[in-house]
Amino acid sequence: MRHLIDILDLSTEEIDELVSTASDIIANPKKYSEKCHGKKLATLFFEPSTRTRLSFEAAMLELGGNVLGFSEASSSSASKGESVSDTTRVVGCYADIIAMRHPKEGAPMVASLKSSVPIINAGDGGHNHPTQTLTDLLTIHREKGRFHDLTIGLCGDLKFGRTVHSLILALSRYQNIRFVLISPDELKLPDYLIQDTLVKNNISFVETTDLQEYLPELDILYMTRVQQERFFNEADYIRLKDSYVLTREKLADAKEDLSILHPLPRVNEISVDVDDDPRACYFKQAANGKYIRMALIMKLLEVE
Ligand code: NCD
Repeated sequence: MRHLIDILDLSTEEIDELVSTASDIIANPKKYSEKCHGKKLATLFFEPSTRTRLSFEAAMLELGGNVLGFSEASSSSASKGESVSDTTRVVGCYADIIAMRHPKEGAPMVASLKSSVPIINAGDGGHNHPTQTLTDLLTIHREKGRFHDLTIGLCGDLKFGRTVHSLILALSRYQNIRFVLISPDELKLPDYLIQDTLVKNNISFVETTDLQEYLPELDILYMTRVQQERFFNEADYIRLKDSYVLTREKLADAKEDLSILHPLPRVNEISVDVDDDPRACYFKQAANGKYIRMALIMKLLEVE
């Protein structure tokens, strides 16, 4: 039995397979409409979500399966003090596969140790978010046709932004990747990722506080929200929340074929006047999330 806790649980060949299955689903959705007939997905969300939970549920429904679950910790027995491990063990008696989001880093990994069904990490605290990365990779593949030879700007909250962490892990396995890490000093990429992923694998990167400086060189600009819920101090959040606001005007010097991604939800980091720019990909990216999750569910359930 396979779980998806960390994006590196999947080989690059498996990522290629998932991307190709998702592309086939987009082209031939009918072919997949009964693939998970009789199967159940449980979504255990101990933290807020719109896209991740609903795209998981839509994915299972479009595969002909069923869904059950909860969308806040307060409506589950976690509020009575039940451990994540016990909750998962019990839900494994009712469902064939579980997608879990939790505010504590490592919770889905702990859950997987005692689980009788595959566990998918749907976001654990400020740590990882592998299925958002699959969504991002499908989007990059559809926009750029490759995962190599890319300069990727990651902008905003690189400290707490779990989607950024998983995306860096994933892209670090491809040739000629260069990262431009754009953040305020207080929200820089954690040192463990700099050392154990970027430095160790000899990946080219620069850190800057200035969004404009490297913008003309970027193939992809990945904007992120400042993660309010991970701050200890409201005043720090208020000071940092509007550090970067991408506007149409600021895009004047960017490449014509730049792809602008954002995992969403956005707060102020991308002005709505960017939405109509052909380089804006974030709503397409949200749509892609359902298809790649369909491919992932089939893979983990070993559906042909
Ligand atoms: C992200 C998350 O939950 O980490 N959202 C998502 O899953 N699409 C990004 C965020 O909340 O800022």
